Amino acid sequence: VESSGREVDFVHLASPPQLGPYTQHDEPCHTAGLFFIDVFLTLMTNPASDILSLRDTLRYHNYHYHVLNAPLISDSEYDRLFRQLCELEQSHPDLVTGDSPTQRIGDRPQEQFASVAHSVPMLSLDNAFDNDELAQFNRRVMERLNTTSVIEYVCEPKLDGLAVSLLYEGGLLVRGASRGDGTSGEDITHTVRTIKSVPLRLLGDHWPDRIEIRGEVYMPRNGFEKLKEEMQARNEKPFVNPRNAAAGSLRQLDPKVAAGRPLEMCCYGVGACEGSELPAQHAAVLHKLQDWGLKINAHTQTVRGLQACIDYYDRLYRLRDSLPYDIDGIVYKVNEIALQRQLGSAARAPRWAIARKFPAQEELTEPLAVDFQVGRTGAITPVARLAPVFVGGATISSASLHNIDEVERLGLQVHDTVIVRRAGDVIPQIVAVVQERRPQHATPIVFPATCPECHSETERSPQEAVIRCTGGLFCKAQRKQAIKHFVCRRALDIDGLGDKLVDQLVDSGLVQTVADLFCLTHEQLVALERVGAKSADNLLAALQKAKKTTLARFVFALGIREVGETTAGALAAHFGDLHSLCCADEASLQEVDTVGPVVAHHLALFFRQPHNLEVIAALQTAGLHWPAPEPLANTAALPLAGQSWVLTGSLASMTRAQGKARLQQLGARVVGTVSGSTDAVVAGHAPGSKLQKARELGLAVMDEQQFIGLLSTHNMERYE
Ligand code: IVH
Repeated sequence: VESSGREVDFVHLASPPQLGPYTQHDEPCHTAGLFFIDVFLTLMTNPASDILSLRDTLRYHNYHYHVLNAPLISDSEYDRLFRQLCELEQSHPDLVTGDSPTQRIGDRPQEQFASVAHSVPMLSLDNAFDNDELAQFNRRVMERLNTTSVIEYVCEPKLDGLAVSLLYEGGLLVRGASRGDGTSGEDITHTVRTIKSVPLRLLGDHWPDRIEIRGEVYMPRNGFEKLKEEMQARNEKPFVNPRNAAAGSLRQLDPKVAAGRPLEMCCYGVGACEGSELPAQHAAVLHKLQDWGLKINAHTQTVRGLQACIDYYDRLYRLRDSLPYDIDGIVYKVNEIALQRQLGSAARAPRWAIARKFPAQEELTEPLAVDFQVGRTGAITPVARLAPVFVGGATISSASLHNIDEVERLGLQVHDTVIVRRAGDVIPQIVAVVQERRPQHATPIVFPATCPECHSETERSPQEAVIRCTGGLFCKAQRKQAIKHFVCRRALDIDGLGDKLVDQLVDSGLVQTVADLFCLTHEQLVALERVGAKSADNLLAALQKAKKTTLARFVFALGIREVGETTAGALAAHFGDLHSLCCADEASLQEVDTVGPVVAHHLALFFRQPHNLEVIAALQTAGLHWPAPEPLANTAALPLAGQSWVLTGSLASMTRAQGKARLQQLGARVVGTVSGSTDAVVAGHAPGSKLQKARELGLAVMDEQQFIGLLSTHNMERYE
């Protein structure tokens, strides 16, 4: 992987791909009598050769884009060439051939899948679950080969997709088939043809007359996420994971549907092969496949001996989460084909290869119950208590079900069998229910009509999937969460006040609101279970220290809905003091960058509640303070000092917030409404009623150009 994050293939082509001798097909036939006329016409224009050369060009660029991950031209240039070919083929339908890049997607859906017998069985792989088992495999290989020499292995990521066989005859893709039971699979030519990394015609030359190439079809993670969103938006049941999505896409009867699915194919071997010899090492076979236009995995590496295999595993295991596709292990293959032959195969799997599996990222388990947790804003979250299961390197015993929509989407009941997924640092989630395994005693999940903590009514606003407790700070659970938020690192950062202690303080009645924290005494604290004199002193010192804060932190700590750190910072910068913020109406709140109507509404509502104002006052009485905003240096001397400006419409060269900041730097006040006291209005694109009002009042109006001119006369740097 390059530093840019883009993957590059480790296998470099020995020579650039040859544009094949494609003219043997499709050649217009000549009769002797027409020969000269034909030559004459050919000199003027020859659609047949234009079509052939366009196809070659497109194949070449397709290869660079989809196989080598190194495009040579822009997408729009590719599209232009593609359209050119479409137009030529439309005018000459007799020249259209099945291997043309325009013919990937068939017109008609299949009626059913035909069965395909694999002349060379598609074997599975034996698994090794730890280094010992891998060492045993290496030992077995050496014993069977009766050698003490170090064995050379090709290491390949084990892609988590589906095994597919591609049959090429005379260089043309004639059939794509699934693995099925290894002896026979299904004919999926119509869907395999839509995969752009599968060449319809092999590149280069000297390919065998008949060759069956095998590999894994998979869906990269970002494509899967996008597909999931699209399916959810269409109210379709999304696929559980990229592997299921790849399987579901390959098994589409309609090639048009498959063509819209972001599938890729990486090749890792050859089945039947007739007409010429392949190289004597597996790695060289892979190089050949790449020369012929097939994609092989960029992380493939040839190593010598067991330790190097283990090192490769460790390296790929660390890379696993950053790869753009799912892998579930490493496949090791003896490199020398002659040695592979000598080792042979058992019934199910070859003796010359093994899959060293990564710890599973998905496991089955059972939700034993569903709890309902009340959050800071009253949101009630269903949480599944699970029969503990080891997945993705940790034991999981609970998983959030998020909200009622998610529970409905999963169709989940208590005691169902569920698939839990934990990939990398992502929090564990239930991705699907195995409906077939629903037991008799499964029970539906019933959302509570009253808050499980304070028994206030619950409500569900029409636009939201969230159910909320209406108890506000009367609700103990909400109070606890509000306090935990207030003291957290990003808010007031009070050391020594963990979740358990907050629960104790609220449950014991010592703390009702965040302001009570600052009235706690040493005696009160040490009277609590598990609180010693030292930790009580430390906490009191931390509380004392936390009294000096910033306005931004304080606003964030209040825990107003939808007001994160960024918005809190913007509010503090805009209003400068708490009083102005508390008194601001929704219109003035919306003048702040990142504050829209919803956030403005939450803010205004919060500061209207007498109990919130009481808590704020109590905090200030307790001694919470922050530095006053920096007074603008020598404001009176600034060019626009004392002026009131309005910005309306959007600016092309900067955001409104940037424009506003520039004006403020010049000393202007920037306000949201046009009035008789406005000094000037800057009107950007689509300015609306403010401009109209400014005109009616006869105010000075400038467009973006004039505004930029003004800024540059004051010699200020352009905001980026
Ligand atoms: S080689 C005779 N190489 O793993 C060897 N398989 O568990 C057969 N797989 O059915 C397979 N990546 O779907 C091989 N680099 C790789 C692979 C790979 C994924 C899959 C394949 C196979 C399954 C066996």
